[in-house]
Amino acid sequence: MGSAEEEEQPRPSDITVFGANCTLHGLSHIFLPGGVTIRRLFWAAAFLSSLSIFLYHVAGAVMDYLSYPHVTILDEMDSPVMYFPAITLCNYNSFRRSKMIRNDLFWMAGLLGVEQSDFDDFMAALGQPPDNSKFFPSKTFNMLEFVQRTSHSIDEMLLDCKYRGKDCGPENFTTIYTRYGKCYTFNSGLDGNPLLTTLKGGTGNGLEIMLDIQQDEYLPVWGDTDETSYEAGIKVQIHSQDEPPFIDQLGFGVAPGFQTFVSCQQQLLQYLPPPWGDCRSEPMDSEYFSTYSITACRIDCETRYLLENCNCRMVHMPGTSTVCTPEQYKDCADPALDFLVEKDNDYCVCETPCNMTRYGKELSMVKIPSKASAKYLAKKFNKTEQYIADNILVLDIFFEALNYEKIEQKKAYEVAGLLGDIGGQMGLFIGASVLTILEIFDYLYEVFKDKVLGYLLRKRRPQRSASDNLSTCDTLRSHSDSLGFAPNVLPSHPAIGNFEEFAC
Ligand SMILES: *[C@@H]1O[C@H](CO)[C@@H](O)[C@H](O)[C@H]1NC(C)=O
Ligand SMILES: *[C@@H]1O[C@H](CO)[C@@H](O)[C@H](O)[C@H]1NC(C)=O
Ligand SMILES: *[C@@H]1O[C@H](CO)[C@@H](O)[C@H](O)[C@H]1NC(C)=O
Ligand SMILES: *[C@@H]1O[C@H](CO)[C@@H](O)[C@H](O)[C@H]1NC(C)=O
Repeated sequence: MGSAEEEEQPRPSDITVFGANCTLHGLSHIFLPGGVTIRRLFWAAAFLSSLSIFLYHVAGAVMDYLSYPHVTILDEMDSPVMYFPAITLCNYNSFRRSKMIRNDLFWMAGLLGVEQSDFDDFMAALGQPPDNSKFFPSKTFNMLEFVQRTSHSIDEMLLDCKYRGKDCGPENFTTIYTRYGKCYTFNSGLDGNPLLTTLKGGTGNGLEIMLDIQQDEYLPVWGDTDETSYEAGIKVQIHSQDEPPFIDQLGFGVAPGFQTFVSCQQQLLQYLPPPWGDCRSEPMDSEYFSTYSITACRIDCETRYLLENCNCRMVHMPGTSTVCTPEQYKDCADPALDFLVEKDNDYCVCETPCNMTRYGKELSMVKIPSKASAKYLAKKFNKTEQYIADNILVLDIFFEALNYEKIEQKKAYEVAGLLGDIGGQMGLFIGASVLTILEIFDYLYEVFKDKVLGYLLRKRRPQRSASDNLSTCDTLRSHSDSLGFAPNVLPSHPAIGNFEEFAC
């Protein structure tokens, strides 16, 4: 191998070799053999500023990614068939007056705001003759039995029921307890019947019920208590079968004397779990409910709160623990629950579930009965016209159209987008790709190899000096041959790098 050849062929660890071969634009103009020139300085400055702009943009993109942005998409989806929601309804009045007996009054007086001295008057107001015979209250009082016995019954309230033109009856309603007492859910999916579907939008394709709210049975209001209600009518909630009703907070009222049309639109909401959004994706860890929903979480939480604070549950709460007595209701349960609902924001924190079904509603009303129909209805139901006007209501619940709104949160910036952006900036500013990074590593490996080899060599011949120019060159060559390296790939360590300048 001639010395001239060796000088023309620099080692791969040489920065000029790297500069010439590297796909990074600009490097080949900077690392040229020879001295520093203005042109090279200019190239170096241009390269460095491009590199910093690139890094700046990459940092921005990474920060953007780490803020986990999301977008919300609203879409209208058509569906050939839709599941009808569950409809829960409660009478505003909790206890029927005709079912109250003196023993109930004895125990319930505190809750109803009746003083001991007013018992006879109250019984008279209930329409029951004062009973002067000796009265012995029972030893215990079962709140659940009392609610079951005195709540309005669907058999008496429901005058007419039609779903998509087909007759339905009290057997199509399931009983559920809420803060209003006994309530009834249509299409709950619990009674073994499959969920009802609807194939068309519009009034005729939903539920139409006629109810008698039985104002005659409303318990007279005696005193102001927390639970006193002055209203007459029913409370209705339209909800998905997956969530329990929470009718005292989420229901809407329907008044007697009117036919109310409720046109619904289903909305499916899909939220993202952290870090993009703040919905809750873990399943429910409750002994009462299997599917997570805000209402399930709140009922579960209220139940636990009462169990902790009052050692009992209210009639409408799930579980098998003992039901509160009327005194516990008055002194502990009612105030505690009111506190929880109105003031405490820390105990019951219920996150939004990731999947939610909501029903948007539009309500409109017409008067019922009309003057023309009052007489007919009175005859039909064997009641007075006044009774019909005060007690009858008709409720129509139907889908507006056979479509639903889908409101969906989507990740706005994912890893693929981030890589795409970095790649774009790389191409624009420094002309690099992933393989360029490999080239840099490859070069660093060469440099490292040279350094290690040079270090080993120096250790072998520490006494070597510039005085044994030629002999060193010879020994070096023989040495490197034994190591398996050709002389032209010899190390570029500064201590021995200048050997090459000597003619070997
Ligand atoms: C009502 O219940 C009866 C008996 O369970 C059932 O045959 C009928 O299909 C139900 N009607 C509706 C509209 O759900
Ligand atoms: C939400 O609904 C979508 C589609 O309806 C489903 O793929 C996803 O698993 C659901 N997520 C949860 C947490 O239920
Ligand atoms: C109508 O109601 C009255 C009492 O309100 C009752 O005496 C009468 O038998 C009822 N008539 C019919 C046909 O049901
Ligand atoms: C080493 O080489 C240089 C130039 O090649 C020469 O000037 C010098 O005299 C040499 N030294 C010895 C000790 O041979």
